[in-house]
Amino acid sequence: INVKTLRNATGGVITLDPGYKNTGSCESAITFLDGEKGILRYRGYSIEELAEKADFLEVAYLLIFGELPNQEQLDKFHADIKAKSLVDDDIKKILDAFPKSAHPMGVLSSLTSALTAFYPSPVDVSSEEAMYNSIVRILGKFPILVAWSMRKKHGLPLEYGDDKLGYVENILKMMFKNPNSEYEQNPILVDALDKLLILHADHEQNCSTSTVRITGSSHAGLFVSLASGISALWGPLHGGANQAVLEMLEAIKEDGGDTKKYMAKAKDKNDPFRLMGFGHRVYKNFDPRARIIKKAADEVLGDLGVEDPILDIAKGLEQEALKDPYFVERKLYPNVDFYSGIIYRAMGIPVEMFTVMFALGRLPGWIAQWREMRLNKEPIGRPRQLYTGATYREFKSIDKR
Ligand code: ACO
Repeated sequence: INVKTLRNATGGVITLDPGYKNTGSCESAITFLDGEKGILRYRGYSIEELAEKADFLEVAYLLIFGELPNQEQLDKFHADIKAKSLVDDDIKKILDAFPKSAHPMGVLSSLTSALTAFYPSPVDVSSEEAMYNSIVRILGKFPILVAWSMRKKHGLPLEYGDDKLGYVENILKMMFKNPNSEYEQNPILVDALDKLLILHADHEQNCSTSTVRITGSSHAGLFVSLASGISALWGPLHGGANQAVLEMLEAIKEDGGDTKKYMAKAKDKNDPFRLMGFGHRVYKNFDPRARIIKKAADEVLGDLGVEDPILDIAKGLEQEALKDPYFVERKLYPNVDFYSGIIYRAMGIPVEMFTVMFALGRLPGWIAQWREMRLNKEPIGRPRQLYTGATYREFKSIDKR
């Protein structure tokens, strides 16, 4: 429908939909989601199959360009990303200026924005080549910023990737390489991270993705649009939930493991406590990503020989919620973040990095959505409001107030 025709037909009527619970903001051909049936598909391919059979870079290509790459396309994509996998040395100076206590999400958002200063060319969307270069550039540099934001916090020297390694292998190497020893890949960790990144790679018009699209709709460049998405992801109601879940599970453990007490708190409307990792705006049956992650958590902990009492607390909470009328009536099920932190922890990733790992996974989705928005020539995002303030007030000079 033509927007102007619609506006004329409604006589300028505005719909009020706080939180955009029933408002579509765009047309998109990237991610299909059926919240009632618990279906998630990227470009038509089921998330279960992609998590099982594809790797993260293939999924990134699929999301961004719409088709699964053949071997030649994938090799070229990877080579182009590797060619951009260095960052200007002055970025290190900015990193150095942050206090050690800085949350890595703040660091990541700032450094992603700062990239614009070092690679300033605005993205000309009429040029496929310029757009492609920006895309491979950010895919090459983002993992470096991620790894450095962690190493900085832990006082470790900064690492670059190794040309011989795969994309996900390099992420782990840059995060975990010990300065005093050779680095050895652990295939269990590579597989687990690959799967987690795929499961987080896109999720249609969620809070951070909408932020990326709306920022980019003013024709702001790719990197700053991504930086605004990172900030939106940080909050505990969105990507920050994975950190909040683990802190909650820890608190329950410290408090003697009484899950019933915390279930009661979550149901008490006078208590601000919510069961983190439960509930979803769209999934009202189950979150298909949570199912895959729960199984992966069991496998990864088993493979690594890690016993974590927190996994038992998480399973206990899930079991209780499944039979509790409060959670059943409100259709509150574990979401993607309920079990992901348990895997990250078993992998040795510090808790404050969990949301950063989410951002790393979501990067291709944000890029795909930004690109689609620009190629579709979407208008600037600009919601309206219902004004509830005074209609007119006479100005009083300061001595009369
Ligand atoms: N614990 C207890 N009660 C809850 C929870 C929860 N985790 N989630 C929702 N509810 C209750 C609400 O209090 C509300 O109850 P009411 O009808 O009696 O008022 C009802 O369920 C509906 O909740 P809303 O907040 O209106 O649902 P909304 O769609 O706006 O929010 C959200 C969805 C933000 C995910 C919410 O469920 C939540 O805060 N969950 C915990 C945080 C979390 O896990 N976030 C990650 C989401 S997934 C992601 O972003 C990757």
